[in-house]
Amino acid sequence: MLRAVTKCLYINPVAGRRMMSHSSLAGKVAIVTASTDGIGLAAAQALGKRGAHVVVSSRKQANVDKAVSQLRSENIQVIGTSCNVGIEQDREKLISLTLEKCGGIDILVSNAAVNPFFGNILDSTDEVWTKIFDVNVKASFLLTKQVVPHMEKRGGGSVLFVSSVAGYQPMPALGPYSVSKTALLGLTRALAPELAHSNIRVNCVAPGIIKTRFSSALWQSEDVTNEFMKQLCIKRLGVPEDIGGVVAFLCSDDAAYITGETITVTGGMNCRL
Ligand SMILES: NC(=O)c1ccc[n+]([C@@H]2O[C@H](COP(=O)([O-])OP(=O)(O)OC[C@H]3O[C@@H](n4cnc5c(N)ncnc54)[C@H](OP(=O)(O)O)[C@@H]3O)[C@@H](O)[C@H]2O)c1
Repeated sequence: MLRAVTKCLYINPVAGRRMMSHSSLAGKVAIVTASTDGIGLAAAQALGKRGAHVVVSSRKQANVDKAVSQLRSENIQVIGTSCNVGIEQDREKLISLTLEKCGGIDILVSNAAVNPFFGNILDSTDEVWTKIFDVNVKASFLLTKQVVPHMEKRGGGSVLFVSSVAGYQPMPALGPYSVSKTALLGLTRALAPELAHSNIRVNCVAPGIIKTRFSSALWQSEDVTNEFMKQLCIKRLGVPEDIGGVVAFLCSDDAAYITGETITVTGGMNCRL
């Protein structure tokens, strides 16, 4: 126990060492989960525009094909595969395809999440909690565990989790989902010191209300939108590109000295000090 703690406190000289030129992700391979729409697609786009070879995925092959052809039309180096992150064989397929076609892994953006439940938290079931935690939290951890040895072979890497403003302040009717997003803040903090020894940084982004299909219940009603707008300093809802750029920054060498951190991207919502 004492040895393990000592190991974690040991200041590793390679942790956070600069590995690439400013902003450029040329030569890097980036896996982005749930990347055929919304924030994941914008993250893949931002990473690809900075030179990374991106691997996009989501549950439906038709969505993957569409995202791949969109990104290729933007001159982004990209491959894609179907992958439901809650299924072990799919996660394995994603990793093995990446290694086979791209030769290694430098960046993991774990973006997938589900929310099958709206209502009072006490009405949520065992099944709901299992589904939410399997996809939103466990899959993020298990994918990280799978990519770490491959990042180590490349001398380091970057892991990025997509949490939510709801991880800081649970949203009404979204109790179990919000708690899963809080868990990702903890996962970021738990992994960062261990992985610093391998020159792997672990960070997290917590979006506010971003206009996507996933959040449509929050912005389709004008009344609800107006309520949220009161909480914002920047008086507009976010768009996926607002998150994509921050993801790319955190995965790039410009963020070489940032690890264990969560950046909120909320238009100035009051969710933390
Ligand atoms: N939008 C917001 O306001 C907001 C705010 C805070 C945090 N977030 C977080 O941002 C992330 C992305 O949300 P979004 O708003 O960008 O959603 P979105 O636009 O609805 O896109 C969801 C993406 O996830 C894929 N997907 C869904 N379930 C999946 C699974 N089990 N495995 C793999 N892929 C899956 C979908 O494609 P398929 O249907 O083909 O699987 C699609 O590509 C989530 O983690 C969410 O919690 C969003």
